[in-house]
Amino acid sequence: MRKPIIIANWKMNFLRDQANLYVKKLIKKLGNKENIEVGIASQDLFLTDLIKLTENTPISIVAQNAHLENFGPFTGETSPKALANVGVDYVMLGHFERRELFNETNSTVNLKVRTALNNGMDVIVDVEELEQVAPVLEGVSEEQMQQIIIGFEPTFAIGTGMSASTKGAEDVAEQIRKTVRKLYGSDVADSTRILYGGSVNRDNLKSLIKQKDIDGVLVGKAALDFQSFWELVEIIENSL
Ligand code: PGA
Repeated sequence: MRKPIIIANWKMNFLRDQANLYVKKLIKKLGNKENIEVGIASQDLFLTDLIKLTENTPISIVAQNAHLENFGPFTGETSPKALANVGVDYVMLGHFERRELFNETNSTVNLKVRTALNNGMDVIVDVEELEQVAPVLEGVSEEQMQQIIIGFEPTFAIGTGMSASTKGAEDVAEQIRKTVRKLYGSDVADSTRILYGGSVNRDNLKSLIKQKDIDGVLVGKAALDFQSFWELVEIIENSL
């Protein structure tokens, strides 16, 4: 019922040709597979190239951040309205690195989430712990929850090679779903996708993806090499 999803979080890596080549390889391998959603979270500069390349393919293109206002004197920021305007599928908000390195708080993330939703964008909102779920969703309506994916990425696991245990990740995902149920009711909770992120690799993915509350993964390091990312896509496919 909830379509599995895997997102390559490229972070600030690759140059234009490398980004395009990676996505061309993905298009070729993926074909028209619709039983799994595959997304690429790229730095802003390459988004329009990638959107053009992936036209008429099932691949989703994801921005890694956006500002909390649509227009104005915010030198160097990216407008969520502009992201929607060029055809970005999702914006990821609240990633640990944004919080840690750029001082984003639950309240900034929440404002960003609301602006992105008001522009009709789909949002992947990241949390590092259960307690962040309610604050980042404040003011989000039941209807808007259809546009939200929640990414759970525990701080200790991001980029460290030390993934959460399968049980640890599933326990938190289950709690997150319970929180969504409390806030929005069962229908919304049952349809909201929850992703795990943090040192996902081919060894831990097999069991992570079988968990009942984990609907997909966000992958950093293991997605920097196309072949390694593709192996992860196949693992999810084979688990269906
Ligand atoms: P990682 O990154 O897979 O390298 O831990 C995940 C992320 O930051 O989304």
